[in-house]
Amino acid sequence: MKIVVVKNYDELSKLGAEIIASKIKENPACTLGLATGSSPIGTYQNLVRMYEDGKISFKDVKTYNLDEYCGIERTHPQSYYYFMHDNLFNHVDIKEENTHVPYAAPGGNLDEEAKKYTAELNKTTIDLQLLGIGANGHIGFNEPGTPFEQETFVVTLTDKTRQDNKRFFNSIDEVPTHAMTMGIANIMRAKSILMLISGTNKADTVVNLLKGKVTTDFPASVLNNHPDVTVIIDEAAYSKMN
Ligand code: F6R
Repeated sequence: MKIVVVKNYDELSKLGAEIIASKIKENPACTLGLATGSSPIGTYQNLVRMYEDGKISFKDVKTYNLDEYCGIERTHPQSYYYFMHDNLFNHVDIKEENTHVPYAAPGGNLDEEAKKYTAELNKTTIDLQLLGIGANGHIGFNEPGTPFEQETFVVTLTDKTRQDNKRFFNSIDEVPTHAMTMGIANIMRAKSILMLISGTNKADTVVNLLKGKVTTDFPASVLNNHPDVTVIIDEAAYSKMN
């Protein structure tokens, strides 16, 4: 695991975008795995700026998102489908048909959709997978206890995760109880992985990631078994390592 400690969220976002942009320059038809949440927002802003400045194009880029809440429409402002369009897709030249977000809206057959997503992922290779990390070590929505062999599935969110994500909703009752997520096995098949970790609320998480053992109790620890992982950590998140 390559660890890069940067000053703050701005620096993390610039470096995150540079790494993704160089992947796109190296292979303009690359496949990216994308994440939502607070961690990658600045990275997406920088990528949009690079696109506007003519430095990169998403014309032939394909994307697969990690996860989606179950039971809310794609038009819901907190759906990850909406998030991706709002933060990236609507501002660059990516083709809608080249973007993929798990489909978990009301009325869908969720288990069937999860199987379809795994089948799609098995037809492709993700060149670079972007990840955040939950305070409890989750990646995607693979909560503690998820087997490392897991493929895309519907997960019951832990109370901790629902509380952490409450900030995006009006109340805890509105936070979905389930999500569809790429499994750990899907994530581990990516050729390279870029994880972003920012803020004091992730300081203990960083200690667990960098000093803990590989265990399903802390899903992100599986990244120690991957040959090409870069983790960008800002000083606030790294503060308990000193
Ligand atoms: C989001 C995702 C989650 C987040 C994690 C951290 O697509 O898969 O694992 O990366 O919950 O979220 P933030 O970045 O909001 O702290």
